[in-house]
Amino acid sequence: MIDAKQWREFLLSKESAEVKNDIESFAGLERIYDLPDMNGITEVSSSASCVHNRRSNQTGLNMNKDLNTMVTITQNEYNFLKYLRKLYAWLIYFPNHFNVREALLEAGFTDVQSDGFCKCCDSEHPTKPEQFHLALTSNPGEVIISYSTLSNPEPYGQCVTIEDDIDGLGNTFTGKVFCTNDTRTFTIGSGQPPLICRNYTGYFHHVKVTGLIPGKKYYYSANAYSNRYSFIAPYGTNSSHVTFGAIADIGTQGGKLTREALKKHKDEMEFLMVIGDQSYSDGCEAVFDKYMRDMEDIIAHVPYMIAAGNHEGPWNFTGIRNRFRMPLEESGAGPDALWYSFDQGPVHFVVLSFENYLDYEKGELYEETYAEPLYIFQDQVQWLEKDLEAFAKRRDQNPNLWLIVMAHRPIRCSLNVSDCSELAPQLSASLMPYLVKYKADLYTCGHVHTYERMDPTIPETGQVCSQCKAVNNVYHQPPYPVQVMNGYGGTVIEGHNIYTGPKPDWSAVRYNSSYYPYGGYAIVNVNLNTLNYTFYHTSGEVWDSFVIQK
Ligand SMILES: [Fe+2]
Repeated sequence: MIDAKQWREFLLSKESAEVKNDIESFAGLERIYDLPDMNGITEVSSSASCVHNRRSNQTGLNMNKDLNTMVTITQNEYNFLKYLRKLYAWLIYFPNHFNVREALLEAGFTDVQSDGFCKCCDSEHPTKPEQFHLALTSNPGEVIISYSTLSNPEPYGQCVTIEDDIDGLGNTFTGKVFCTNDTRTFTIGSGQPPLICRNYTGYFHHVKVTGLIPGKKYYYSANAYSNRYSFIAPYGTNSSHVTFGAIADIGTQGGKLTREALKKHKDEMEFLMVIGDQSYSDGCEAVFDKYMRDMEDIIAHVPYMIAAGNHEGPWNFTGIRNRFRMPLEESGAGPDALWYSFDQGPVHFVVLSFENYLDYEKGELYEETYAEPLYIFQDQVQWLEKDLEAFAKRRDQNPNLWLIVMAHRPIRCSLNVSDCSELAPQLSASLMPYLVKYKADLYTCGHVHTYERMDPTIPETGQVCSQCKAVNNVYHQPPYPVQVMNGYGGTVIEGHNIYTGPKPDWSAVRYNSSYYPYGGYAIVNVNLNTLNYTFYHTSGEVWDSFVIQK
């Protein structure tokens, strides 16, 4: 087995002196050299340029023929390393190395144009729609259909045709057209770095479709160039159960395993929730485009609901504000809010944001956001109180309703990092009073790239109470919310978080993440009496499973 040091030396031997210096200055890149190890690459005795990888059963290329020890990597890994070489060449031109490095790695460079200008969609067919995705409101039979085009020449707005499979066999259809004037576009920066996204061009269309029969399958398309997709009309509140997927911290390239694994759950999920940090585009919209194309196979069929994470923060969340059309208006939040709520089945979902954006003087720099306690965001607090008050009244009438609160950042976790030790207590102090007062059942987040399930604790003391412990993984009417941090979606450049300290009393289950590639996701099923949470590793293994009982 080749070790990381050898790999690094090999790559360095291939680079020019100038680029070598650049590589040396990026300690974070060291982990890249661990790739062969992480994939369990086996030694081979052949010196042929193309050999067979015994472990993955894939054909791979011999990458280290200059070294004493032979190593085989897959074609994808070879491509990835090739991209890395290009990356080194790019890096020296960037003043803000960290974000660009990350974005380029996540993109695998595939959609990055050499002149740095980028366009969302097909230049040959500028009206060809792509990047289809759906979103929910709370209303039964209602869905938002969103997509992108390179140009927007339609004088009467953008329209989708909804087709109803009359005989249920795909033989006869009747169509109905829904149009929108909700078309958004944006420019970011002024032609300066980030070079890979100068003068970004793209239009984002959001069409609200109403009056469908919940649970019935429909087909849709946007225009003559459009692919055709299908979806199940949402139940909204008109159901006694809901099943959804939950991910966070999912990269473009890094999220591949999770993405592939989630496809197997397409028919099961009524929606997919991403609790912040999707694509790792970091303001490079070409990367976000690629992510959306990669995800389309899932999210053109299954509604995709988002929360804001720090990596969506650059340019003050311009990308996600335009790309997505969450039920802000429907839940009483302002048009620019990064928070909202919706109902599906017996669950009221509240999506919050701790992300604050620092507006830079010249508007040229772009950055991630930083987290602040909830009280910093007074608009959000006022909205939250109103939203939860209205929900509490509904739950007085129907005690079987559930409250699930989500935000990108953990409010408790036991990893030995400042996100857990310093920031989480501050965020918790600002949010927990609401979770307690309005009896939230579950708080779930991402951000830290591990998985951790946490027993409820008494807010005043931090102690686990007698009813706070699960018996055989079942929480019976816990007095405070169970917490799950699931930042396991997978990213190329970050990851490899290891729990080193002792496991606190309240930490029920926790898993380290590894270097790329890794991945995991949750499937959550809620009915009137129980909430079933299952965390899957992308191998298909169940890594955690628990139940909350009403
Ligand atoms: Fe994050």
